[in-house]
Amino acid sequence: MDQLKRQAAARALEEVRDGMQLGLGTGSTAKHFVELLGERVAAGLKVIGVPTSEATRADAERCGVKLTTLDEIDHLDLTIDGADEIDPELNLIKGGGGALLREKIVAAASDRMIVIADDSKWVPTLGKFPLPVEVIPFGLGATRRAIEKAFAECGVSGQMAVRKAKDGHVFVTDGGHWIVDAQLGRISDPAGLAKALSAIPGVVEHGLFIGLASSAVLAGGGGIRVIERRKPKGDQE
Ligand code: A5P
Repeated sequence: MDQLKRQAAARALEEVRDGMQLGLGTGSTAKHFVELLGERVAAGLKVIGVPTSEATRADAERCGVKLTTLDEIDHLDLTIDGADEIDPELNLIKGGGGALLREKIVAAASDRMIVIADDSKWVPTLGKFPLPVEVIPFGLGATRRAIEKAFAECGVSGQMAVRKAKDGHVFVTDGGHWIVDAQLGRISDPAGLAKALSAIPGVVEHGLFIGLASSAVLAGGGGIRVIERRKPKGDQE
């Protein structure tokens, strides 16, 4: 599996050109990309990156990749990131690693986003992977009720749980928020659900990435598949 993730990362690296401003994703697949990018940088490639988490910042620094922020530059040419699920429209569930907020800010600021994954992430319909919803701890009861209402209006339901870290304490994101993971099973209208969740006060962000990925690089036993998004970036219909 790890070998497949690295192969997908290596294929995406072929899209990187000298002088590019890059969004650097989070997770085990994105980590392969950062490591491979570091090798190219050591060989003379000139790029600058914006990391989507403190973990990726540390990896990039270790690999010698120069970093900046979205305050210092006004756009990114390309973001490379992993995903937890990818559907045929290239809608995604992200946030299994808890970095969804920064990942979405970076993807939205990027001209293109390439999703890299092993092909187990490819699904006909999103929802088997629990949907992460990043929330403000204040008033969590009210926010949960509003989330349940949004789920019902969008024809989905399922158990919700506040994410715990390995040490048993509540998982806290890089932004200081909490995550509620929702076991929905099948999300038939991801764009509608994304809109409903975004409208809830107390929800900071959610893991549905709609219309942000330009292409997906999927590595499997039979080789690498590149799937291009048919609709323009930001088109949610
Ligand atoms: C991080 O918050 C996530 O969105 C990751 O991109 C996603 O969980 C994929 O991670 P892996 O590459 O480790 O499967």
